[in-house]
Amino acid sequence: MAEAKTTTTTRWWRGAAIYQVYVRSFADGNGDGVGDLQGLLRKLPYIAELGIDAIWLNPWYPSPMADGGYDVADYRAIEPLFGSLVEAEKLIDEAHALGIKIIIDIVPNHCSDQHPWFLQAIAEGPDSPARELFWFRPGKGEDGSEPPNDWQSRFGGPAWSRSTNPDGTAGDWYLHLYSPEQPDFNWTNRKVHDEFDDILRFWLDRGVDGFRIDVADGLVKEDGLPDLDGRTPEPLPFSDQDGVHEIYRHWRRIADEYPGERIFVGEMWLPDPERFARYLREDELHSAFNFDFLGCPWDAAALRGVIDDTLAAHAPVGAPPTWVLSNHDVTRHVTRYGRADTSFDFGDRQHLATTDFELGTRRARAAALLTTSLPGGVYVYQGEELGLWEVENLPDELREDPVWVRSGHTDRGRDGCRIPIPWGGSEPPFEFGDGTAWLPQPEEWSDFTAEVEAADPDSMLSLYRTALRLRRTEEALGDGDLTWLDLGPGVLAFTRSPGFACVVNLSPDPVPLPDHAGVLLTSDPLHDGALPSDTAAWLRLA
Ligand code: NOJ
Repeated sequence: MAEAKTTTTTRWWRGAAIYQVYVRSFADGNGDGVGDLQGLLRKLPYIAELGIDAIWLNPWYPSPMADGGYDVADYRAIEPLFGSLVEAEKLIDEAHALGIKIIIDIVPNHCSDQHPWFLQAIAEGPDSPARELFWFRPGKGEDGSEPPNDWQSRFGGPAWSRSTNPDGTAGDWYLHLYSPEQPDFNWTNRKVHDEFDDILRFWLDRGVDGFRIDVADGLVKEDGLPDLDGRTPEPLPFSDQDGVHEIYRHWRRIADEYPGERIFVGEMWLPDPERFARYLREDELHSAFNFDFLGCPWDAAALRGVIDDTLAAHAPVGAPPTWVLSNHDVTRHVTRYGRADTSFDFGDRQHLATTDFELGTRRARAAALLTTSLPGGVYVYQGEELGLWEVENLPDELREDPVWVRSGHTDRGRDGCRIPIPWGGSEPPFEFGDGTAWLPQPEEWSDFTAEVEAADPDSMLSLYRTALRLRRTEEALGDGDLTWLDLGPGVLAFTRSPGFACVVNLSPDPVPLPDHAGVLLTSDPLHDGALPSDTAAWLRLA
């Protein structure tokens, strides 16, 4: 493996390449059709060979899986389908031995309706102290049959569900920004703060290197839980309230007590880049996902705008930007980039829009070189290094994402980006495990297995391996800044010091490369020294 250019403990997170593992779909070690920690343990050498600095694991806690594990029933244990605490500790140790850090998901906005606190709140009924840990409120109307306010769940329908009293009568309503199985915690209650302090320490003591914070903007609600009445105020009464920053300042102090720079990565979808950057002040979170870049269409001017805005928003707080193309919530980018409309929006996933996969793949290859060479950190979602696409033809009865039901069967949700990984062999389950995989894989993935791609120097996997390895050895890459080059309309080109340039051609015509440039890597071969449309190159400058 290429030798890392910096020590792994010094500001490691500022330029890290982080691989996202959706455990349930990564590798199945025990043959039950569901990915698990045994499977991940076996694949650690694959991740190490890719040239990855850290793994972020989606929630691994015991969960009824009403929302793929984002409905946590116990924050200090491992979901039995995935393994045990002993295996989790082994995973942390073995990853560390390979030079890979472990970032786990923490879900502080809500838990599962099967969490002991919520079960107690329901069992003990109105006025019990257990109810103060959530947002229980009487309904509106004479018989209390209307929700307490007009907030909508992010998965569709009202953000409130009515509880049943211990005597069987209809009771108060409780708030859930997501599905009814995910009651929101009440962060005005001291006990909630203390509980999460303790959970953070529980995992930090076991050696985790950081936390990805789910719905990081959502914890604090506006006093009085005001109706929206058709308004869209900024900030919304359930997002980005100022009080949330005090929580993260406190968390940062906890993480800083531990050796080795333990970090926080925030998940916030916020419209205002300046408010977004407030989470990244020196005494708060270390970094956050850059979703504006993810949602941006494949268009040079639009991408340049997002990159500039991102760099401008991060600079005043001194935080490193991150670059993300895909994750477990969005349509895979090979599919997005092969459509007429290449943007992404939760409001319309463009399910089954006409897709040119050859074009989408070419652009995805170019995007890989772009994201891995921009200043800051980069995320790789499992399977993007194989060029996997969104599986849009799943039978509806197999869909598990609550979005499908909650949207009244209008939004087909996120199952299509969570299909189990094809590792080898010529037919499903492609060595994902010995049993039938929990979601079916397309037959065509026989040409996209890690085994096939590892043997092909022109595959997406080979491109990612080369790029991520060069990223470790090229001094210019990772943390730092860039200078734009003007190579004409439709071309994104920038230099990074010392001696590096990236050119991405989004125009319909070939682009000649600068004469004095040596070529380090291209996403597709050059033609007569020129970069073809929708391809990218890394250059060494004299
Ligand atoms: C964001 C997570 O990425 C998503 O998968 C989940 O459904 C919501 N937060 C709610 O936890």
